Amino acid sequence: MAVLASGRGSNLQALLDAISAGTLDAGVVGVFSDRVGAPALARARAVGISAHALSPRDYPSRDAFDAALFDAVDTVAPDLIICAGYMRLLGAAVVAPRSARMINIHPSLLPDFKGLRTHRQALAAGASRHGASVHFVTAALDGGPVISQVPVPVLPGDDETSLSARVLEREHPLLVETVRLLAQRRISLGDDGVLLDGRSLAGPLQLAANNRFA
Ligand code: GRF
Repeated sequence: MAVLASGRGSNLQALLDAISAGTLDAGVVGVFSDRVGAPALARARAVGISAHALSPRDYPSRDAFDAALFDAVDTVAPDLIICAGYMRLLGAAVVAPRSARMINIHPSLLPDFKGLRTHRQALAAGASRHGASVHFVTAALDGGPVISQVPVPVLPGDDETSLSARVLEREHPLLVETVRLLAQRRISLGDDGVLLDGRSLAGPLQLAANNRFA
């Protein structure tokens, strides 16, 4: 896997921890960022994984930046590309050829609350249920076919901080369990959406409290 991350890198860390615990049979071959100071880079380097940052301001356009970023990603020849807190829009030119092997984790129950500040959006909408989704990446922002989700309750008195912490805690097992299915090649992207063991999914897989898909 190659992991793209712009910041903290706790989802990257969840993958690294599962790999080192022997519970995820996969490997991270490179971490890539659009921010030179992203803590995710340090998490990778701490365990000997190559970490590479490119600064968008060094490129004349978004397309030029994307092309350089994916030139770097291609050098590690990943089977899967994981966007884990990668905060820049990716253009169709780099996404389209890679959609079937590129996923993103997004902190909402898609299609609700696309884009930024999803916890604020959920609170403003008065939602009683929130959560996170893992989806294949297409050129539509947070719009690709959804593979899996985990629901999280919104509780009385929640603010963005408390709600985002409750969601983040569930994002980590959601990402690890979804990557496990991808690594086992049980999940794929078909013409009409997500396939599990070659059959169309009726809806996104739901992660239960025991961290298994229901
Ligand atoms: C997560 O909430 C992820 O869903 C979103 O950005 C955040 C990244 O967190 N896309 P981290 O960098 O993995 O800690």
